[in-house]
Amino acid sequence: MSKTIIITGGAGFIGSHVVRLFVNKYPDYKIINLDALTYAGNLENLKDIEDLPNYVFEKADIVDANRVNEIFQKYQPDGVIHLAAESHVDRSILSPLDFVYTNVIGTVNLLNAAKEAWKNDFEGKRFYHISTDEVYGALGAEGLFTEETPYSPNSPYSASKAASDHFVRAYGETYHLPFVLSNCSNNYGPNHFPRKTDSAIYQ
Ligand SMILES: NC(=O)c1ccc[n+]([C@@H]2O[C@H](COP(=O)([O-])OP(=O)(O)OC[C@H]3O[C@@H](n4cnc5c(N)ncnc54)[C@H](O)[C@@H]3O)[C@@H](O)[C@H]2O)c1
Repeated sequence: MSKTIIITGGAGFIGSHVVRLFVNKYPDYKIINLDALTYAGNLENLKDIEDLPNYVFEKADIVDANRVNEIFQKYQPDGVIHLAAESHVDRSILSPLDFVYTNVIGTVNLLNAAKEAWKNDFEGKRFYHISTDEVYGALGAEGLFTEETPYSPNSPYSASKAASDHFVRAYGETYHLPFVLSNCSNNYGPNHFPRKTDSAIYQ
């Protein structure tokens, strides 16, 4: 295998498409799907690729630092694509701490595990953090966000994603960990968790 990539949240909506894309497009890459299988994770999303030789599933909670470290030490990944998150805005209003654990502490656990596995030798390594445009707050009827827009999260969900973005950026500045950070807007399509399509405010 020429490269090993850990994709977190690969059993979820967007993650399942990313896992399938990488598994099919890069047969010489080993793709590790790290997912806790919360209510939002569904391995049925990946039935068509589950037996392919370059695909591995690891059930793990990113809040569990020991388990995350174990997986990084086992696979020694070249890259991380981090999609695992509590992603449902309404749930964040009911239970903000769950979002702090997974989105903030879970992200820091992954950053630490990557830093540890890469031993400060970052040649050819990359940590890709998937975030949301909700960190910029609410857009009016017109206008757009850019990377220069000040952060202004309005929900516990977006606050937790904003905090995770800051940690990723800080690991880049402090430890020179190579990262990419993207802040996409709403996605729709196959494998979308059914209840999320009920309301326009869900992310
Ligand atoms: N869906 C959107 O429109 C949208 C828009 C912008 C940004 N995003 C971001 O994209 C990413 C993926 O979003 P999605 O809609 O596919 O999410 P999703 O809720 O469908 O999937 C999340 C996945 O993460 C897993 N997960 C949750 N907590 C975990 C934990 N503690 N440890 C390990 N795995 C855990 C779940 O089991 C699930 O498979 C998220 O980071 C989200 O913030 C999504």
